[in-house]
Amino acid sequence: MELNKIFLGDCLEILKQIPSNSIDAVITDPPYASGGRSLSEKTLPPSKKYEQSDNKIVHRPDFFGDTKDSRSWLHWCVMWISECQRILKDSGYFLMFTDWRQLPTATDAIQMADLIWRGVIAWDKGLGSRAPHKGYFRHQCEYIIWGTKGQCKKAIHSGPYPGCLKFPVLQKDKFHLTGKPTALIEELIKIVPEENIILDPFIGSGTTAVAAKKHNRNFIGIEKSEIYYKIAMERLK
Ligand SMILES: C[S@@+](CC[C@H](N)C(=O)[O-])C[C@H]1O[C@@H](n2cnc3c(N)ncnc32)[C@H](O)[C@@H]1O
Repeated sequence: MELNKIFLGDCLEILKQIPSNSIDAVITDPPYASGGRSLSEKTLPPSKKYEQSDNKIVHRPDFFGDTKDSRSWLHWCVMWISECQRILKDSGYFLMFTDWRQLPTATDAIQMADLIWRGVIAWDKGLGSRAPHKGYFRHQCEYIIWGTKGQCKKAIHSGPYPGCLKFPVLQKDKFHLTGKPTALIEELIKIVPEENIILDPFIGSGTTAVAAKKHNRNFIGIEKSEIYYKIAMERLK
């Protein structure tokens, strides 16, 4: 599989083309299929659920895969994470973003896919984050669940790494409806040494690729939406 390239298509198809035991880390931010209390709220298009920033409406394109109910999301996650498990080298890392609603299902999914669940990193977005009204604790954190394929080896290039990361979402650095701060992904990719290969099967606007390129890691990205694929290719240039 060609390195430092983003592939346009469904990751379930493209992952099958990647050889077993060939990738050092999967770092990815799949559709959360969250954002609502009821099925009718969850199945709204992502732009209706997430298109809000500091109480201002910011228009960004919709994306795929965010309207599943909890059971179908779990089933689908086990399918693609199992492919990642096959592709990872022994002791390879698996890191996946999720939110408070999907945290229990996401941690089940990585264990069902035969990875060893090792922890949860909190991403603190700061006090600008959403609270529906004054009676709420803010939904200030999203989470990165992480695990390994088998043993977790001692790193010799750096580490240990912080388990709580504080990065605000800056509009000038946001190229996707649910885009992650580039600086946050730059922190996460430190888990593998330079020249290692990082796979992101849900690369959206290409943030993982931008961070990997900047820090001399190799990457393979996959994105199903043509609009976001083009945005990612532009960012990489
Ligand atoms: C949460 S976003 C990732 C955003 C990214 N972290 C960024 O900073 O831009 C998830 C992405 O996965 C894509 N996606 C959904 N289902 C997919 C699939 N089956 N194969 C590949 N990409 C898919 C969506 O179109 C969306 O752009």
